[in-house]
Parts: sequence; C-alpha cells; structure tokens
Amino acid sequence: MNVKEKILVLDFGGQYNQLIARRVRDNNVYAEIKPYTVSLEEIKAEKYKGIIFTGGPNSVYDMSSPHFDKQILDLGIPVLGICYGCQLICWMRGGKVETSDTREYGKIEMTVDKKDSVLFENIPDSVVWMSHTDKIVEVPDGFEITAHSDNCPVAAMENSEDKIYAVQFHPEVTHTEYGKKLLYNFIFNVCECSGNWKMEGFIDNTVKALREKIGDKKVVLGLSGGVDSSVAAALLSKAVGNQLTCVFVDQGLMRKDEGDFVEQTFTKLFDMKFVRVNCGEEFISKLKGVIDPEDKRKIIGTEFYSVFWNKIREEADGGFFAQGTIYPDCIESGKGDADKIKTHHNKVKMPEDIKFDDVIEPLADLFKDEVRKVGELLGIPKELVWRQPFPGPGLGVRIIGEITAEKVKILQEADAVFRDEIKKSGIENELSQFFAVLTDVKTVGVMGDHRTYDNLIAIRAVTTDDFMTADFARIPYDVLARVSSRIINECTGVNRVVYDITSKPPGTVEWA
Ligand code: XMP
Repeated sequence: MNVKEKILVLDFGGQYNQLIARRVRDNNVYAEIKPYTVSLEEIKAEKYKGIIFTGGPNSVYDMSSPHFDKQILDLGIPVLGICYGCQLICWMRGGKVETSDTREYGKIEMTVDKKDSVLFENIPDSVVWMSHTDKIVEVPDGFEITAHSDNCPVAAMENSEDKIYAVQFHPEVTHTEYGKKLLYNFIFNVCECSGNWKMEGFIDNTVKALREKIGDKKVVLGLSGGVDSSVAAALLSKAVGNQLTCVFVDQGLMRKDEGDFVEQTFTKLFDMKFVRVNCGEEFISKLKGVIDPEDKRKIIGTEFYSVFWNKIREEADGGFFAQGTIYPDCIESGKGDADKIKTHHNKVKMPEDIKFDDVIEPLADLFKDEVRKVGELLGIPKELVWRQPFPGPGLGVRIIGEITAEKVKILQEADAVFRDEIKKSGIENELSQFFAVLTDVKTVGVMGDHRTYDNLIAIRAVTTDDFMTADFARIPYDVLARVSSRIINECTGVNRVVYDITSKPPGTVEWA
C-alpha cells in the first residue's frame, strides 16, 4: 500500500502475525505482513519506519527453520523481535541461544532491569505472556539485558545505538499487561512514527485512486449483503457513482425481509445501478427431494454461481470487476506455504469467458474491524455494518431434511421473532451469532382443546472469538421464555421450541 509511514511485520510462522499488525494499526500506523521469504531488496525499497520479527515455532539452530539475511539488522531501520524473532536477532548478531529443559508457558512475572529504556518507558515490573522452550543465555556484543524473569535470564534485550530491540514474551496478546504500551513505545519512541493513518484518510485516498483507475469505465460488483461487499459497494459508489453496477442474487434463502432491506439500503443511500436477481423458486425446485446436507450445500453453491456469473456476463462489457476481498484473505503466511495465497470465499474464480480489464479490490489492505469503521463513516446503517455472520447457503443450512418454500417461510418467521426478542432484551452485543433452526421433527402438543402435531424449532446462540471454537450463550430464562411463547403463538406450524446447549466442539455452530 502506498502510505508514507508503515511498519513491516516479518512473519516467521508465528500464530499471532495478524494480531501484531492489528495492534500496530490501533496506533494509526499502517502495518503490513510479509512472509520471511521476501527479499532484502524489496524491504529496502519500501522504506519502512520499523520492522517487527514475529514469533515462530522453530529453533534458530535448525537451519530448516525460517532465517533471514543478517544485513536486515544493518539497514538502520528499527527492529523489534518477538519470541522466535528475539532469539533470531540474538543468533544473527552472534549471541547464544539454548534449548532449556523446561518450557516457559503462560503468565510470567517480568522484572524490568533497564528503567530508562525507551521501549519500557512507563512500564513497571508486570505480567507478560511467554511461550518458549529455547532461551537466550548470552546476549550479542553491543546488547544489554533490559528485563528478566525467574526462568528466563533474558526476557528482553536491546542495542539502542542500532535501534534493535527484542522481547522473549508476546506484547501483542492481552495477557501481557503492558503489551500495548510496549508496542506504542516501539512505534513512537523508537520508530518515531507520527500516527496519521486514519480511516477518513483511507477513504479519501482510495476514492481518489479508484477514480483515477476507473476513469469513465464501468465497474461491476457482486453484492451479497455481507459486510465486506457492502462496504466495497459504498466506497465504489462514492468514487464513481452510477458507473457502478451491483449484482445482488436473492436465492430466497435469506432471513425475513433481508433482500428488500439490502435493496432499499443501497438504492436509497447510494448512487449506483442495482440489479437484483430473484431466483428463490428455481432454487427450491433444484432442491426438491434433496435431504443430505452436503448435497444441499453443493446444489445451492453451484446454482448460486451459475445465476451470478450469468448476470455478470450480461453486465460485463469491458471495465472492471470489483470484489470485497479483505486483508486476511490475501496475506501470505510465513508458515512454509508462502507462495500460496489462501483460497477464500471472498476471492471467487471467474469463468474464463467473462472478460474485464482488471479486478478491483478496494478493501484488500484492511482488517474486518477497519472495514466496519469505513462502512460506518460512509453511512451504511449499523445493522448492516455490524451484522453477524450469515452463511453463504443461507437458511439452507438451517432447515433439516428437504427444503420447501413453506419451511423457508416458517423458519424466517421464527428467526425474526428470535432476533426481535434478543434485540429488545439488550443482549445482542454479547452474542456472536444467534438464529433459529427448523428441525425435521414434529411433536405432539395441545392448543386450546386441540391436540397438535407440529414442527419443532431449535434456537441457537453462541459466543466465540474466532468461530473455530464456540460456547452456547447463557441467555436468561425469561428471554428464552418470551421467545418460545412468541414463536409458538406467532408462527403457524410450530408447537415446540428447544434451546441448543451444545458447544463447538463437539457440535458445529450451524446444524447442517
Ligand atoms: P460451523 O457450523 O462450521 O460455522 O461451526 C462456523 C461459522 O461459519 C459459518 N458458516 C458458513 N459460512 N458458508 C459461509 O459463508 C458456509 O457454507 C458456512 N457454513 C458455516 C457459520 O454461520 C459460522 O459463523
């Protein structure tokens, strides 16, 4: 990215590389991640204000571990090494690293030895997060120990003349009490950044660059109604107005009124050509008689892209194709697969017969929280910007057994009631995802004088940081009671509601 001031996060395969970049960006300084296989020449050309070596799972003496040209430490650019990065600096400058008998792991008390270190400015003895087996036993010439712990004689070291700093612990994780402050000190005291990278500036610069690139040509964007494509649409609309065509495929498996909401939002608030393809009936007929969850997913996915590309083909006459790709979709990792870019659902492969001049990805440098900030600044309603994840196959993964139009309707109604009650109860922000599921079960009930035999709705709400693991949310009983009573009263065909109390693992978030 073309910004004046940026920090390089040089990835040696650690698990926190993205977190480090995000923490730097929290200080309004742009950070980008590159794998350790990047060349020294490339680094020189970028004129970084500072470089951070990440952690990594390896031992520096194992020559198959990631290493880097030692000259990187002689460029005059400030360097901060973290964990493996700290040991690597020690090894590169001729110090000594040893494998220890005990692994130091978890929250550790650190003592600051050099109180006037600019890296430790206003950081007292405090708790840090460690995770290492190898440790530094002898610092290189020109370095001094700046902090230690009981088990780790060199918890931090520095060569302030060469502006090389290294910490054995992880300042980027929240368990390190003064981690944020340490990164702040590196960015501002050592690298002397000014901290002027802000989303307002990002919008202005991106709009200008988009106008230059697009000229008077057309841009076509696939809009799903998700956060990323919505923000990309708003940004492109600000740049080129009605030269933008958004193609929105409503496969009939969205939540209640969602298709209309997306259409109204974009047509009312933004200048663009909005093309909506309603193909719910075709989807239902393709899904007739299909029960296996994987088969359903495959049919929904294949059908979606067939409709989508057909429409794009109609709209394409040169010009540009835009996508809501975001930074985590593009980062090359230092985990040994550096030449492979992750395949991700945001990066879709276009059929070869569709021809555009180029692909535009205006959000490719931003993390999700930054995309949301841009969305808010561009005036997209909070409801869209902060919306919970919604799976590509939509309600198709929340209807067990055969999908029919009637079942979609029942589920949409039940889900709308659940969402409404959660909103009213004020606990929406505590939940990562919540929704209703139409099970393939009918149960006996009684309504007035009648015996009923109707559908069972399950409701699910989870809390999670990353969706890899999740816990079921502890929703108050009185909220559950209101949801249950309203669903049974308001949704025809439902006579029982259950709450899913399964965590992930062993369960998944979705039911199918
Ligand atoms: P699971 O069910 O795998 O869900 O625990 C984890 C997260 O992924 C979402 N999900 C999907 N998202 N296409 C998507 O775009 C899919 O096929 C899909 N399946 C699950 C799910 O909603 C949850 O947020």
